Amino acid sequence: MIHEFDAVIVGAGGAGLYAALEASKTAKTAVVSKLYPTRSHTGAAQGGIGAALGNVDEDNPEWHAFDTIKGGDYLVDQQAAKILAEEAVQAVYDLENRGLPFSRTPEGRIDQRRFGGHTRNFGEAPVHRSCYAADRTGNMILQTLYQQCIKNQVHFFDEFQVLELLLDGTRVAGLVVFELATGEVKVFKAKAVLFATGGFGRMYRITSNAHANTGDGPAVVMRAGIPLEDMEFFQFHPTGIKDMGILITEGVRGEGGILLNRDGERFMEHYAPTLLDLAPRDMVSRAIMTEIQEGRGMRGDRRIDDYVMLDASHLGREVVERKIPDIADFCKTYLAVDPAEKPMPVQPTAHYAMGGIPTDVDGRVTAAETVYEGLYAAGECACVSVHGANRLGTNSLVDLVVFGRRAGRHIAEYVTGARQPRVPSDAGEQMRSRIAELKRQDGAHPGPVYDRMQSTMMENVGVYRDHDRMTRGLADIRGLRETFKEVRVQDKQSRFNTEVLGILELENLLDLSLITAASALNRTESRGAHSRVDYTERDDDRWLKHTLARIEDGEVHIAYKPVDTSIWEPKPRTY
Ligand code: FUM
Repeated sequence: MIHEFDAVIVGAGGAGLYAALEASKTAKTAVVSKLYPTRSHTGAAQGGIGAALGNVDEDNPEWHAFDTIKGGDYLVDQQAAKILAEEAVQAVYDLENRGLPFSRTPEGRIDQRRFGGHTRNFGEAPVHRSCYAADRTGNMILQTLYQQCIKNQVHFFDEFQVLELLLDGTRVAGLVVFELATGEVKVFKAKAVLFATGGFGRMYRITSNAHANTGDGPAVVMRAGIPLEDMEFFQFHPTGIKDMGILITEGVRGEGGILLNRDGERFMEHYAPTLLDLAPRDMVSRAIMTEIQEGRGMRGDRRIDDYVMLDASHLGREVVERKIPDIADFCKTYLAVDPAEKPMPVQPTAHYAMGGIPTDVDGRVTAAETVYEGLYAAGECACVSVHGANRLGTNSLVDLVVFGRRAGRHIAEYVTGARQPRVPSDAGEQMRSRIAELKRQDGAHPGPVYDRMQSTMMENVGVYRDHDRMTRGLADIRGLRETFKEVRVQDKQSRFNTEVLGILELENLLDLSLITAASALNRTESRGAHSRVDYTERDDDRWLKHTLARIEDGEVHIAYKPVDTSIWEPKPRTY
């Protein structure tokens, strides 16, 4: 049986749900999600959504756009950033009107906190711009949008894993998916398909990303022949719980928390004298790694496990319990540390992919002059590009509501004039054979391949990079892709076969690791989160351009496209 819809959205995080909500105004809309929707990773976004409401300090969207572009080390497409900042304001009010329970100022307005790289008047001082619901902002967005989608009669297919994008030339035809409950491979036919599958931080050993963040959307789209943009730029959030990577929100520093080294020194004074602990994330992560490498970190079990301290104890118990209650819980549960009394041990954690599926500002997938009709992407899996080489905190939630909403609106209009595509009669057969093959004989276990991929990416394509390390990382990933061919499942059952799912996810991560490592090795400069010790300077003459990369016959092919710098001329970045 073939499921037929006007629009199919893959992924039920904030971008997917917002797109579904808008699309469903005219389109028969389905959401296909590997998870139950409210378990999506948007729920892990803690500290807030940036919008220049000006409720606490004077603010305006132009400053927000400027900070976003400067924070992204000028690899940001500037008209897209302008849209992001301008539409953020209405998007936040729309969420409020739909029922999102934001934290409030004493006067009853939406409260705002400071976040890294967000400033007033083009860099003068930190500004209160992040609208928040305690430290559960993403979770509240999910709950709000999911309820609205149910009200709009969006059809949900929970625990369905996307396997293949069906194209008819450059036009969307549908999808092939795997139903976890039955083990069946199913075909969806649709006029429009939107990918909103989130990030792929699981390619790294220490990550804030959920186990489900395996880059299924970008990998599937890339296998359909579409290149991925700016994959070398992967953000490390400065404050993950030591050894575990679980996010400690930047909101802690926004509320006044400070970073300390083993001598009790507030080391950010040396790295970003104006913004201090609220400098952009790439700079703070590098500062932490430098402190550790130069022996001023706290000692871990091995040198590679050294860390620094994030101190919020001076904020007092009332502030900690009211403004960062989940963080307080995590620290007590995982570390037996009460942040109202003691500093929290932290280290940089792989957090966010700036790169992904290339789109225009309406979410339409576009690459090398080709617009793929009916194909859309939004949220972390997409690259609009509003984050450039380094995303500012809170801009992920802005990105997913602003561009999820815009893409959904575009879909609502597009499907009214489009006819149903043709789906090949053998759609799904290749994937059925692939899964049967995985079960046919015994083979290697995927675990060691997964572990080795995460370690080599962490050690060789991490915060600091150089030619030798990246070459080693790339060779490791190539070798692992060969070993992966021998991997088979031990569990041959059909129902809830999570081993099959895990192998398919690993394949996606290996492809994305290969592209990330190759794109990083190729870019011989330092910019934003891509920081090379052998090419320490930003090189606008040679590298003010986006990378477009895809795999063909096992090799990564790289092309480029220009950056839109139509508003502000690129300048050196100081804070
Ligand atoms: O630090 C945080 O709360 C994370 C937010 C973000 O990545 O935007």
